[in-house]
Amino acid sequence: MSSNDRVIIFDTTLRDGEQSPGASMTGEEKLRIAKALERLRVDVIEAGFAIASPGDFAAVKTIADTIHDSTVCSLARAVDADIERAAEALKGANSGRIHTFIATSPIHMQYKLRMQPDQVVEQAVRAVTKARNLCADVEFSCEDAGRSDIDFLCRIVEAAIDAGARTINIPDTVGYAIPHQYGELIAELLTRIPNADKAVFSVHCHNDLGLAVANSLAAVVAGARQVECTINGLGERAGNAALEEIVMAIKTRQDLLGVHTRIETEHILSASRLVSGITGFPVQPNKAIVGANAFAHESGIHQDGVLKHRETYEIMSAQSVGWNANKMVMGKHSGRAAFRSRLDELGIALAEDELNAAFARFKDLADKKHEIFDEDLQALVTDTLTEETPEHYKLTSLEVTSKTGQVPQARLMLAVDGHEQAASAQGSGPVDATFKAIESIAGSQATLQLYSVNAITQGTDSQGEVTVRLEKGGRIVNGNGADTDIVVASAKAYLNALNLMQASVLRAHPQVEGI
Ligand code: KIV
Ligand code: ZN
Repeated sequence: MSSNDRVIIFDTTLRDGEQSPGASMTGEEKLRIAKALERLRVDVIEAGFAIASPGDFAAVKTIADTIHDSTVCSLARAVDADIERAAEALKGANSGRIHTFIATSPIHMQYKLRMQPDQVVEQAVRAVTKARNLCADVEFSCEDAGRSDIDFLCRIVEAAIDAGARTINIPDTVGYAIPHQYGELIAELLTRIPNADKAVFSVHCHNDLGLAVANSLAAVVAGARQVECTINGLGERAGNAALEEIVMAIKTRQDLLGVHTRIETEHILSASRLVSGITGFPVQPNKAIVGANAFAHESGIHQDGVLKHRETYEIMSAQSVGWNANKMVMGKHSGRAAFRSRLDELGIALAEDELNAAFARFKDLADKKHEIFDEDLQALVTDTLTEETPEHYKLTSLEVTSKTGQVPQARLMLAVDGHEQAASAQGSGPVDATFKAIESIAGSQATLQLYSVNAITQGTDSQGEVTVRLEKGGRIVNGNGADTDIVVASAKAYLNALNLMQASVLRAHPQVEGI
């Protein structure tokens, strides 16, 4: 295969994915995801939007300083301050990229930018030139390209390539495109732009009509050689094209598409679980590739067929994306060395004190649960590291009574900045009573937007992983908690959300703040 047959996988879970309401992640969580993406052999990791806040800058910088095998990228609007901040954050990168963008559709130029097309071209050229002076690898995006005029796209893209952009991204920002039409757009740009051969053409599709993956693949057929995507399809509104679906479509239909990626697909499932655990966005059971039912055969006829010859009903093997790699890894007699080595295999690197804390929790869990799976270890690490973030509220003890014919009651003790406070409350169920008891101490006035419980593994001794989404004054946070007792997991998730609410800072949104 020639190098022109390779599709570059650009993952934007840490930037566009983080723009999903409530999906914000701590710097440590982003680094953990970045390491999982590097293990997957993603080509480019968009680590964030460096100018958004000091926390975002620090996350991009840490990832740039740590990751070696993937290019690390920061988003920047087409303005000097953004580009300088991105370059500063990427200084230590083995391979860094500045991704600068400006909107090109009539509706965005008129109402959002309040700029004339000529001014937009001028600003794009200035931005790419500035970025190229600070970084050899520059990507330029035409925001809302899907609704832009093709003549204008040809003009601005040609100018951006002349100014030094190596990658040109044609995003379908609002998920408006239809596959054959989007493919034709890419093909026409590649034919009409005289210097198109000097850049890699990229696509970035949103999923508002459920067509993000189909549109991206149509673009690949038309000649695009970079796809921007996210783990589990996370992203602004309905999300982005899902990395796992793009990669597996390219691998499974290599006969038709004739291209390949360098992704090590057997790490897909663990990356999906890591992102889901950290963000608290569960994966629906029927989700392609990574959903619990993706390789489950319910009907007897299908089961019979698969047992006789797997390919009768399966177009790819479960193992090829990491299913069944999940063995019973450890039990209560497993030692610290085995624990550390399994975390290493899962791509989780912990500092010594973190390892000690995680190992202590592992021993506690092993007392309650006979078999410990990889998913348990991932949840346990997420839980341990979550507890290390500053905790205003901490659960000291919880007692719930739930009896047929009686109103459920919760009694709990919280440490509030180290001072113990007790509360009790009744509720329609034990979880409701627990949340009311917590609120009687916290008085947060936040509204509960989402409460979800997922079993991490199979069996009734599984840990329950709970997500609680709270909203206050337009700020949304997702709290997570895991425990074999789902009421305790729920209390932990609620307190985690309250703690995040206290800690959360205002960040600039790249596509809302004006230039
Ligand atoms: O959707 C979009 O257009 C984006 C750009 C910033 C690339 O996320
Ligand atoms: Zn986007």
